[in-house]
Amino acid sequence: MKKLLLSIILSVGALQPLMADEGMWLPMLVSQRIEDMQQKGFKLSAEDIYSVNKASLKDAVVLFGGGCTGEIVSDEGLLFTNHHCGYSHIQKLSSVEHDYLKDGFWAMNRSEELPAKGLTVSFLERMDDVTDEVLKGWHPSMGEAARDSIVRNNIKIIERKAVGLAPENKGLTARVEALFYSNKYYLFVFRVYRDIRLVAAPPSSIGKFGGETDNWMWPRHTGDFSIFRIYAGKDNMPADYSEENIPYTPKRSFTISRAGAKEGDFTFIYGCPASTKEYVISDEVKYVAEVSDPAKVEARTARLNIFIKYMNQSQKVRIQYSAKKASVANAWKKWQGESKGLIKLKSVAKKQKYEAEFEKWAKGSEFEGVTEKLHELYKEYNKYHFAYEYSTETVAAIELPKFAYSFAKAVQSKSVASTSFTTSLPSRAEIDAFYKDYYAPIDRDCFKALLELFNANVSDEMKPAAYKEMLQKYGGVEKWCDAIYNNSLFLTQSIVYSLTEKESAKIENDPAFEMYKVINSWRGELRKKENELMKDITLCYRLYMRGQMAFESGKSFYPDANRTLRVAYGKVKGFSPADGIEYLPVSTLKGIMQKDNPNIFDYNIPQSLRDIYAKGGYDNQPVCFIATNHTSGGNSGSPVISADGYLLGINFDRVWEGTMSDYNFDPEICRNICVDVRYILFIIKEIGHAEYLFNEMKFAE
Ligand code: ARG
Ligand code: GLU
Repeated sequence: MKKLLLSIILSVGALQPLMADEGMWLPMLVSQRIEDMQQKGFKLSAEDIYSVNKASLKDAVVLFGGGCTGEIVSDEGLLFTNHHCGYSHIQKLSSVEHDYLKDGFWAMNRSEELPAKGLTVSFLERMDDVTDEVLKGWHPSMGEAARDSIVRNNIKIIERKAVGLAPENKGLTARVEALFYSNKYYLFVFRVYRDIRLVAAPPSSIGKFGGETDNWMWPRHTGDFSIFRIYAGKDNMPADYSEENIPYTPKRSFTISRAGAKEGDFTFIYGCPASTKEYVISDEVKYVAEVSDPAKVEARTARLNIFIKYMNQSQKVRIQYSAKKASVANAWKKWQGESKGLIKLKSVAKKQKYEAEFEKWAKGSEFEGVTEKLHELYKEYNKYHFAYEYSTETVAAIELPKFAYSFAKAVQSKSVASTSFTTSLPSRAEIDAFYKDYYAPIDRDCFKALLELFNANVSDEMKPAAYKEMLQKYGGVEKWCDAIYNNSLFLTQSIVYSLTEKESAKIENDPAFEMYKVINSWRGELRKKENELMKDITLCYRLYMRGQMAFESGKSFYPDANRTLRVAYGKVKGFSPADGIEYLPVSTLKGIMQKDNPNIFDYNIPQSLRDIYAKGGYDNQPVCFIATNHTSGGNSGSPVISADGYLLGINFDRVWEGTMSDYNFDPEICRNICVDVRYILFIIKEIGHAEYLFNEMKFAE
């Protein structure tokens, strides 16, 4: 009966309710959701979440670096984020003598904290709806070209005005972001701190426990956290690194929950999700689920198999390719889950039905025909888009030609002004970085496999003529491969070091350089064509988005993610990934011991953890939990917050079965994965022996 009722409601588009727990809401507009949040257990007010007049939780949430989220956990600038978010900084601070990635790092006092050069942390000062100001001076009768240039100009003025030169504006940056496909514009003003120091990181056998095997999966047992501290000038304002700087005093910091989270508890997430596409037309979902994801997965499978074959033969190669493999495998695994999830949910058919109802409703209005126009545009767009995406995964993913082409600027400069040749060369550090992690036999196998895939799956009509000519000139993939991997001067580091202007013809005629040059210029053309078509598509989406909001006027819409700060709420909850399986929502130390295996790299825990466990009494030590919060990439490091506003854990992943949530959120199986803050405290104390950090934290039972 309940099912029948629901399907009746769902079939009437205009009455379609928002699925429970779906949504990433703008903090400034959280007052529109607060009643629902409170009904579900939240005990605080909208003002506690976001306020420009008094300190609120927003003041304890930061954009960490360019792509992650972090949270402030003490009044002395202490910050939690994920281990995988701090990873590159921990790596940069490491050396052969001090491998902080492998062994972990624990500052035992402030003077031992390590400055992470180049790392920034941004606080949201305020956000404003600036739609009227952005569109000032424009009227629909003036047309789209006029809109573009007026909008661009107005945005520049608004952003400039927002940061000003007054001393209280130190370190401010401003960004106007388009939301709802440019139907709305919001100004975001951030204060950016740039003296950030590493305080602690667990060994990667804890911080990355489970590795690629467990990535995107539940049950999970990863201690995915790292700890930094923000430093400021004497005025508490952003400052360049200096020994004189002092720990930043935040407006607000999180109280840490020792009570933890259990099944059914309310949770909410504050963070910066990067990109979702909930309102796109069925054609895009169909393309992603049936064409793009499977094709990219196939290409990456080929690449990963080659990596793994050689990594298994040599410890040196395993280290060289572990970061590359991790990054290739991350999206590879996500895309498989995404495609499977979209197909299982019948997302395409659902969207098509919705579009038919929309068009029926839109008859005679300005919205009539917008979905049909989108169908048409996608037919053309997807041809170019596929060629571009697929070449990224194949012919443009081969290492040596791409590296060779980093000399293009020097070669070009030679023909312009001969003096700039050396300054346009890649730096010695860039050259060293390439060879340090390069293994030619892997690249050679990848060349063959990826070219075969490209030849088979990109239509002849789309392939660049110059590429086809070269393929012919060399007499096929094998021979082309030999020409590059037997002869290219870029195979020899010492030759590359000594390249001078005199060799610029040699560079240009090098088979690796020559190949990438052809691919690169063709990809430039594809991009141009894609962007042209995307302009029209974007215009249609602006109309279609407005149309959807009118069609379902009773529904609350949240804007697609675009790395702006959002609030998502839900509860701690297990799920059933398949018939006969029911997952519990929490994992414990017992599970780590069950997975522990010294012979499997991903599951080899530190001996000290085994010793502690052997003392007994730790079976129920919580490690991770899952919840129904709607999150995406970029929510890594986000605080997971209790009904009382306390810190329960740090978000770091989603379950594989629910990765289609970027297009279609399903409350039945979409879950975010969090590391329990009590596990973080446990590791700080038992592994790091750095309990002194607790002195500056606040706790609630
Ligand atoms: N899947 C998570 C994300 O998308 C974690 C990635 C890092 N961990 C890993 N095992 N590769 O970023
Ligand atoms: N691990 C992801 C990140 O780095 C978050 C996982 C997701 O996509 O939900 O942002």
